Amino acid sequence: MTASTSGIDMAAGVLRAGGLVALPTETVYGLGANAEDPAAVSRIFQVKGRPPSHPLIVHIGDAEPLDDWAEEVPATARLLVERFWPGPLTLVLRRGRRVPLVATGGLETVAVRVPDHPVALALLSAFGGGITAPSANRFGSVSPTTADDVRAELGDAVDFVLDGGPCRVGVESTIIDVTGEVPAVLRPGGVPCEDLEAVLGRPLAVPSTSRIRVPGQHPSHYAPRARVVLAEPEKVVAEAELAQQQGHRVGVLLPAAFADAEVKAHAVVQVPGSMAAYARGLYGFLRELDQKGCDLIVASLPAAEGLGLAIGNRLHRAAGPRNTV
Ligand code: TXA
Ligand code: MG
Repeated sequence: MTASTSGIDMAAGVLRAGGLVALPTETVYGLGANAEDPAAVSRIFQVKGRPPSHPLIVHIGDAEPLDDWAEEVPATARLLVERFWPGPLTLVLRRGRRVPLVATGGLETVAVRVPDHPVALALLSAFGGGITAPSANRFGSVSPTTADDVRAELGDAVDFVLDGGPCRVGVESTIIDVTGEVPAVLRPGGVPCEDLEAVLGRPLAVPSTSRIRVPGQHPSHYAPRARVVLAEPEKVVAEAELAQQQGHRVGVLLPAAFADAEVKAHAVVQVPGSMAAYARGLYGFLRELDQKGCDLIVASLPAAEGLGLAIGNRLHRAAGPRNTV
């Protein structure tokens, strides 16, 4: 934890005055506002360039006041809260009395989580209320995992940046909708679905994505400037070299199984073999390849299990058609 006590007090003051604070969480950095201040919450949408119909996550310091922020919290939700908070799990519940409609994009449900980061928890404790915070990036682009990423992404548009070091998890929280009959995964993330299913004792539902209400469900999201193309792991090197020969400046996310391969490309990142390390590094790798001037990134999807599901989801969306955002 690198933020000082005075930094936390200043950040709490900025929130009380209706300002925006970028804060570290264990997943990615968030762009935070006082959840109960509609004007401050509106500014988040402006700064991110995010459509106002896309709901935000309310961060709270512990589960105790959950019933003020959400109504009719079901027993399944309590079970997950007990086991996974603080942590990278967001629950979608019925909107409680403290949540203004602007924070939920007009929905009668609300997304809530308790982040597992000492600086975020210290800020929540000093501030005393809830903090609505989407990831601190412009709409559609790669989420920031360091304070420097936030500054590069948002500059002066944010009033205060709390530096809590690099994020430990590196991909966003898993979002579970617990308002229906069967808990449903809206976004795979930092808590593997297998772990949730083990606690629930049943499979999670996977809703159809035909109704796009979650920004992460737009085909293109989490995207670097460079175009992203996906290939089978054993074809990554050949695809990359072909595109490089065709005149592209190619960046490669080289699968761990091919770590020794010589690749004739503009820039190569060796993907870590551990999924936790890959998740932690993913957004940094995409930013690095952008910074090196790549115009095309070739990657492959890891096995769709554990954290690999969240990594694959982000890569898949990074490779999605851009004109649909
Ligand atoms: O790890 C995280 O979740 C990070 C950190 C900062 O906490 N936050 C984050 O926020 O990823 P954002 O805004 O980038 O993504 C929040 C997601 C969006 O996809 C949003 O649509 C969904 O949560 N969401 C929020 N409220 C919802 C609701 N009532 N129903 C369905 N989805 C909701
Ligand atoms: Mg986001």
